[in-house]
Amino acid sequence: MIDTHVHFRSPGHPHKEDWASGTRAAVSGGVTTVCDMPNTSPPTLTRAIWEEKRALAAAASRANYGLWIGAAAENLGELNELMDSGDACGIKVFMGASTGPLLVDDATLVRVFQETRGLLGVHAEDEALLAGARERFAGNPSPEHNEVRPPSAAAAAVKRLVELSRAYQRAVHVCHVSTSAELAILEDVRGVAPVTTEATPHHLWLSTETGQGNFTKCNPPIRDEVDRRALWTAVRRNRIDTIGSDHAPHTREEKLLPYWDAPCGIPGVETTFPLLIAAIRQGRLSIERMVQLCAEAPARIFGFHRKGWIKPGYDADFLLFTETELVKLATTDLLTRVAWSPFVGHKVGVKPEQVYVGGRLVAQRGHIVDDDVRGSLVRPGDARAS
Ligand code: DOR
Ligand code: ZN
Ligand code: ZN
Repeated sequence: MIDTHVHFRSPGHPHKEDWASGTRAAVSGGVTTVCDMPNTSPPTLTRAIWEEKRALAAAASRANYGLWIGAAAENLGELNELMDSGDACGIKVFMGASTGPLLVDDATLVRVFQETRGLLGVHAEDEALLAGARERFAGNPSPEHNEVRPPSAAAAAVKRLVELSRAYQRAVHVCHVSTSAELAILEDVRGVAPVTTEATPHHLWLSTETGQGNFTKCNPPIRDEVDRRALWTAVRRNRIDTIGSDHAPHTREEKLLPYWDAPCGIPGVETTFPLLIAAIRQGRLSIERMVQLCAEAPARIFGFHRKGWIKPGYDADFLLFTETELVKLATTDLLTRVAWSPFVGHKVGVKPEQVYVGGRLVAQRGHIVDDDVRGSLVRPGDARAS
């Protein structure tokens, strides 16, 4: 499994997660390659900071790792060097502010399309609409997050994004699609704009009706049941290309703060597999579709050489699992440093029987059995070279 969307918090906030804890969680749940987002601290905006993160990952990552580079008005020149060298796995663009300072306005977004090269991964929420809604709810101590960051903000941003992708014929991976409104816009440009899409397990499993307060506060927000069901339909109809966990750990203490102070994000890198296995058991997904979403499509879209398939000459990153009865997920099953999950208590499949990274057995039944294995950097550049 390749999870192209994780936030491992290192450098900056290792009390939430670091490369050792995050990748132990990943491999225990069958994820053998992760791509880490740039909203760490300092944000990954320069070659030098990118190299610092690469060193942290090289020393501690139990999985293979790709590293995103963030886009900002002041670093557009630097982006091409990281993309042309084939080192960074993609350019991450925040159209709406979320955790950390990364944000681009529309003029900068246009420049990203005009002046940079390589795959764009985009957090698409319209900042002006977010700001307006935020102001309307400012006096309310505990508003509904899905109203503070409404579906219309995601739809407006996706509309603008696909316009640009179409005009510049530039590959864009739309992160965490969460609403039927976004899906309708994406449907309209199918085949004419080079756009691919990601969905997260939390948007597929949780809704505004499932509660849990700030523990499910994330961006884009958990949506209503109508949107959740539309997302499942899109997954089954091949309108979603990849499943990314958007693993975004924050501590319990932080999540217990009042609504406006609690940070946004949900941990999930180790629960994707158990949840998808449950969906397969319940007849909502096929195993072949799961393999496409979690391995083949990420490898193809990101251009990861020798990954995504089990065949001669490919890297031996794979998992073996045994079909068992579904079990209730328990806190003790979790290896993430924050030690909580909104899926605790959900009926899920068990973690894989065995997980191999580069041919070495690293995890067995959810436990790390070899803590000395280190993954390597995955570079889109390797595919271009072959
Ligand atoms: O909920 C979120 N958490 N959305 C993001 O865009 C960032 C992430 C984080 O890093 O905490
Ligand atoms: Zn995001
Ligand atoms: Zn994210």
